[in-house]
Amino acid sequence: MDSFEFNKVFMAILGTVFIVMSLSFISDSLFHNKVPEQQGYAVEVAEASTGGEAEEDTGPAFEPISAMLASADIAEGEKIFKKCSSCHTNVDGGANKVGPALWGIVERPIASADGFSYSGALKTYAEGKTWSYEELNGFLWKPKTYVKGTSMGFGGIKKVEDRAALVAYLRSLAGTPAPLPQ
Ligand code: HEC
Repeated sequence: MDSFEFNKVFMAILGTVFIVMSLSFISDSLFHNKVPEQQGYAVEVAEASTGGEAEEDTGPAFEPISAMLASADIAEGEKIFKKCSSCHTNVDGGANKVGPALWGIVERPIASADGFSYSGALKTYAEGKTWSYEELNGFLWKPKTYVKGTSMGFGGIKKVEDRAALVAYLRSLAGTPAPLPQ
């Protein structure tokens, strides 16, 4: 192999290496560009659909508690009730305060405490409904989202475990607690 031929071969190898490197660089950058695009897209879609559900009320945006009630921590629920006791009594024959008395609240018709002046919003919402476990769950999740226009000035309880514990405690505020959901 003379030096001219050696150069040709060398250049050919160099060219091949160059092409291979550029191809891998291009495919690399294509690959790197694609990944964040796809992730960004997926996240946007997920956020858009949860946001829509919460706003448009097309379905519950909070987790159900029914299956958790049997094993919920009633003592923990009693502690959480301290957030409610400035406005609500929890004893048999207890008076209405800022909010209606809550003795026997589970399965009681909505907006039915004697002598309490309910908001128009809650009275309209009531329409023959009772405070089932899941109605309480939804209301205590975010009162003002669940019943738009309610006069209950309380932000809500975010954690599903806390709502289950609180509702299990509310169930205990009765001579004969309502049966647990099947
Ligand atoms: C700042 C006062 C306030 C606090 C705190 C508060 N509530 Fe209320 N609650 C009210 C008022 C006022 C109403 C009546 C709402 C209406 O008429 O729209 C109400 C209504 C209710 C009702 C419906 C009762 C019925 O007879 O239909 C339930 C159940 C309830 N509250 C539970 C709770 C629980 C449980 C807590 C604690 C996590 C709590 N509330 C915290 C003021 C309060």
